[in-house]
Amino acid sequence: MKKRILTGDRPTGKLHLGHYVGSLKNRVKLQDEYEEYILIADVQALTDNFNTPEKVRENVLEVAMDSLAVGIDPKKSNIFVQSLIPEVAELTVYYSNLVTVSRLQRNPTVKTEIAQKKALFGQDGGSVTYGFLGYPVSQAADITAFDADLVPVGEDQLPLIEQCKEIVRKFNSLYGETLKEPEALLGDIARLKGLDGNTKMGKSLGNAIYLGDSEEETFNKIRNAVTDPNKIRKDDPANPHVCMVGYYHSVFSKADYECICEECKAGKRGCVDCKKQLAQNINNELAPIREKRAYYENHKDEVKQILIEGTKNAREITKQTMEKVRKAMQIDYFNNK
Ligand code: TRP
Repeated sequence: MKKRILTGDRPTGKLHLGHYVGSLKNRVKLQDEYEEYILIADVQALTDNFNTPEKVRENVLEVAMDSLAVGIDPKKSNIFVQSLIPEVAELTVYYSNLVTVSRLQRNPTVKTEIAQKKALFGQDGGSVTYGFLGYPVSQAADITAFDADLVPVGEDQLPLIEQCKEIVRKFNSLYGETLKEPEALLGDIARLKGLDGNTKMGKSLGNAIYLGDSEEETFNKIRNAVTDPNKIRKDDPANPHVCMVGYYHSVFSKADYECICEECKAGKRGCVDCKKQLAQNINNELAPIREKRAYYENHKDEVKQILIEGTKNAREITKQTMEKVRKAMQIDYFNNK
């Protein structure tokens, strides 16, 4: 039997290059070897977007199209919508007994997100709902509902996988060996920095190149990247290691990277040409993705059908998991087997 992958994305915006190198590439690579389930985490997105449900709704389809565009094959993998799997909600309720409030408050991912909200919206914006604080519990339910072996994610998700493992251990020690501890799988670039020098590319940070961006949009974003401040003139020597364009070349221009660095250090490389070359390489990599995305944008009914089918397959699995869980927890009351 094939091992299983469960992973997912919040539908709060389109997916970007950070998602691509951090997790999407792995998902595409592993879809032959693993049985793959890709969740569109609308319930999780609503934990901090409950006041803008239309935004979540719109982005369900956007994220599905991004997944298909990068090469997730609906014949091999299942893309599905979290809110249509009631078993996940049910598991979340049971798991919520197995986690303390203080443990959730110490979760580094949750802490960072709360700090970001405070910075953006002031102290009030940082006030935390029960649902938001508890989203790591619901993520543990996502993963374990599928008995997942592997979870391809970006680095920011590691504390959530750790929290999931703790819940699994707690559940198994209380109710008997029932659930599987998953492993996280990081991409080659576990965390892609922003072109603005931020430690992360992120939707909410306003520094993202989206998979759906056009060639011009991509070039314009690269044009504004932070470069070595000591380089004033075109032929000044510079340090590619303090330049975001240099850093992006290390990710997207691997074959030429050494040569690029040498030229930059020797003052033989103007920033404008260097940025054009980077944009060219990224655009080359994105070209087939854009083409597929355009196809699905014109065939949204097909995308919806893929989600309906994926959700149906996903539920087959989660129903089985619930039977095991209910039995272990002694709440399988009227099973006359
Ligand atoms: N938290 C993930 C994100 O913000 C999305 C997600 C929800 C997820 N459930 C998951 C990722 C389960 C991996 C496994 O992108």
